[in-house]
Amino acid sequence: MKFDSFDTRHYQTLPVQDGYGEWAATYEATVLDVMDKRLLARLTMVNWPDAARAADLGCGTGRTGAWLKTSGVGAVDGIDLTAEMLEQAQAKAVYQRLERGDVVATGFDAGAYDLVVNCLVDEHLPNLDGLYREARRLLRPGGKFVLVGYHPHFLMLGIAAHFDRENGTSVALESYVHLTSDHIAAGHAAGFELMEMIEGLIDEDWVKAKPNWVERYWNHPVTFAMVWG
Ligand SMILES: C[S@@+](CC[C@H](N)C(=O)[O-])C[C@H]1O[C@@H](n2cnc3c(N)ncnc32)[C@H](O)[C@@H]1O
Repeated sequence: MKFDSFDTRHYQTLPVQDGYGEWAATYEATVLDVMDKRLLARLTMVNWPDAARAADLGCGTGRTGAWLKTSGVGAVDGIDLTAEMLEQAQAKAVYQRLERGDVVATGFDAGAYDLVVNCLVDEHLPNLDGLYREARRLLRPGGKFVLVGYHPHFLMLGIAAHFDRENGTSVALESYVHLTSDHIAAGHAAGFELMEMIEGLIDEDWVKAKPNWVERYWNHPVTFAMVWG
């Protein structure tokens, strides 16, 4: 489902590569760890040091890869569409292999990974089937796919991923709403079973970063994490 019909802010919207190409310079200073890292740390079905080899699909600036390495994951390969994001990932030196390309067709070796991670990317994909299929292809039998997403509920409240230009204008990234049932269907079609799902709410941790959101969005789910195996 396209995001447009839910949009309440009507910011100028850019295609993914243009948008992240521009946002790359300020991305790390603005993206909030409560969105994703807090959820990754809460997952109980993944013992991170068990993963000798991981693929980070939509690795961006390497935030996720850096978190994985700190959490004990062995070698991490990364792929992303946006050159400007990849430049920063390269500079972090946390990836063994880093490629520019699409998460649905990585070109990485089949069955080579203990863990595949996709963090804050799926809302930019028009449909989920290709992502889940590619994750399944990359994983060895028994490997796990961890997906952290921006919550469909929050998108339906009318707020897409966006950033502010220096002149103060806000710019949104092209987005799609995928219901939880869409994830379940795509995961099952790819041969996965859902092992764990958690949701992150607008709570006291968010208040520190977004005081304005508290009154309107308190306890609304804003992100989610799934473990597939
Ligand atoms: C919000 S950032 C997330 C980056 C990183 N995972 C993180 O959590 O900081 C979304 C990233 O997804 C990438 N992306 C979006 N669609 C993609 C696709 N089809 N294939 C590869 N990368 C994609 C963008 O270029 C961007 O770097």
